[in-house]
Amino acid sequence: MKKSLTAYVNGRFLPLDDASIHIEDRGFQFADGVYEVIACFGGAFLDIEPHLQRLQHSCEAIRIPLPVTLPELESLVQQTYEKNPFTNAMAYIQVTRGIAPRSHQVSESMTPSLIITIRDLPMPSDEKLTEGVSAITLKDFRWGRCDIKSIALLASVMGKQEAAANCVDETFWIDGEGHLLEGCSTNVFALINGTLVTHPLDHRILGGITRKMVIRVAEKAAVNVEERPWKLTESGLSECMMSSTTSALLPVCRINGEPVGSGKPGPATKRLRAMIIDELEALRGV
Ligand code: PDD
Repeated sequence: MKKSLTAYVNGRFLPLDDASIHIEDRGFQFADGVYEVIACFGGAFLDIEPHLQRLQHSCEAIRIPLPVTLPELESLVQQTYEKNPFTNAMAYIQVTRGIAPRSHQVSESMTPSLIITIRDLPMPSDEKLTEGVSAITLKDFRWGRCDIKSIALLASVMGKQEAAANCVDETFWIDGEGHLLEGCSTNVFALINGTLVTHPLDHRILGGITRKMVIRVAEKAAVNVEERPWKLTESGLSECMMSSTTSALLPVCRINGEPVGSGKPGPATKRLRAMIIDELEALRGV
């Protein structure tokens, strides 16, 4: 029989099938909570500190007190991993405001719920790497605080449904002027006249931890980086790429049915991805 995964739920480690949350948890009733996804290679978590700091930022933004300290949380994530030790793993952390009779009004005395799960982290297929991924754009209809990693992901789910209906991998949100903001679960970059361009950090995008890594790696490779609004129609745009914890950096080769640049993964994307994969393998001890 296949061994069950083990989840951490409010102080206890439980088999995944026995791990449950009360139906009056405000995460379920109001999506009143926040989350993080952290990658782990060979038992070493990638950028765990910035992820936990972003969780703290998200909690503070919606005034949920973190039920444990950040070092305690790091230790709980590690302990949950040790019970589910995948070679390539992703840790999911969710904090909600807690359990209370359903009322929009927030009571100060609620005890937040904390859950942690670990899953196998699938690697992108060879085809996605050699052919690139495809995307569509949709006018952004999400809320105005995308810097908070909220569990209210209905717009992202709808965006992914629209992507699937169009047989593409991702939907990129665009603002009223046609600037690319980010994807449903990714940040997006373009190479424009040799400069790596991505939307600046503000309330319209999530400050991706991988986005930061891509910028750091690009600077190391002496690629000029500009954080500014950008459009697909800009002249000199030769490559697009998208970043996330779960896929590192992937070439985006078709958007709205049109090829991006040559329609094949470009040299800058390949180079930056290779540099990132080197860092991940070093973490894994390869
Ligand atoms: N999503 N933008 C959005 C809206 C996201 O949901 C994510 C990540 C990112 C990339 O952030 P990071 O590099 O820190 O993973 C950008 C995670 C992976 C998810 O929801 O599963």
